[in-house]
Amino acid sequence: MGNGDCTERVSKMSGPPHLGVWVGIGAFAALAVDVALLCFLGVSQASIALAASCAARVAFVFFWLTYAGGAIPVFFGLTVGSPLTRRRREFGLAFAGALTVHLCGVAWLFLVSPRQPISNAGIVYFGIGALFTFALAISSFNRIQTLLRPWAWWLLNLIGLEYIAYLFFLDFIRGPFSRGNISTITYFPFAILILTAPMLRWAAKIWRWLRPTESAA
Ligand code: HEM
Repeated sequence: MGNGDCTERVSKMSGPPHLGVWVGIGAFAALAVDVALLCFLGVSQASIALAASCAARVAFVFFWLTYAGGAIPVFFGLTVGSPLTRRRREFGLAFAGALTVHLCGVAWLFLVSPRQPISNAGIVYFGIGALFTFALAISSFNRIQTLLRPWAWWLLNLIGLEYIAYLFFLDFIRGPFSRGNISTITYFPFAILILTAPMLRWAAKIWRWLRPTESAA
């Protein structure tokens, strides 16, 4: 077997070789924001909490692109081969990278806070979300994907992504709404994005189901 064949086979099994780089891109983006913030504000319990929240927002941008980004080409008449559709898997990996930075910030917050910074129920809900994130990231490598039955992979994607979207909904809408700060700049744009995401995603899915040949053109 020639070297070319071998490389092609490895690539088919594990996905494009650059795939892992996207985890680094996501982690680096979140880390850059956090380091800048901590340099500017200094290290304190409040600034660590802010850094954890900022990393979660960076993660959210990548999540939005993987969750709803594929809908944009459908509505703007772009081709299915548009980067927003093709790179959904990469955005998902970048989300996992940035979320890891969020979790490191949260772990640091636990260490410096006199009181547990999140309720036990919150730890369970958000812990499940983190597990989904890493399960989705690992299963997006072709080698792992081939171990799963197609319906199991489809179900993991469906439930995992909807569950994580729900967690962002809790953080960007339910939380600030009950505290009365939904209209602030740190929440309002994110609230709009998380509200529009499921609408775009499901409208695009229904559109594709109804007109499969047109969207595949
Ligand atoms: C997929 C999983 C997760 C998502 C989508 C997520 C999302 C978020 C978001 C959006 C924020 C910012 C909230 C705001 O600004 O009001 C946040 C903050 C926070 N998260 Fe997470 N998170 C996840 C996992 C976790 C886990 C597993 C823990 C703890 C075990 C955790 C603990 C915290 C804490 C303590 C804060 C508050 C930081 C502060 O005091 O401002 N998160 N999270």
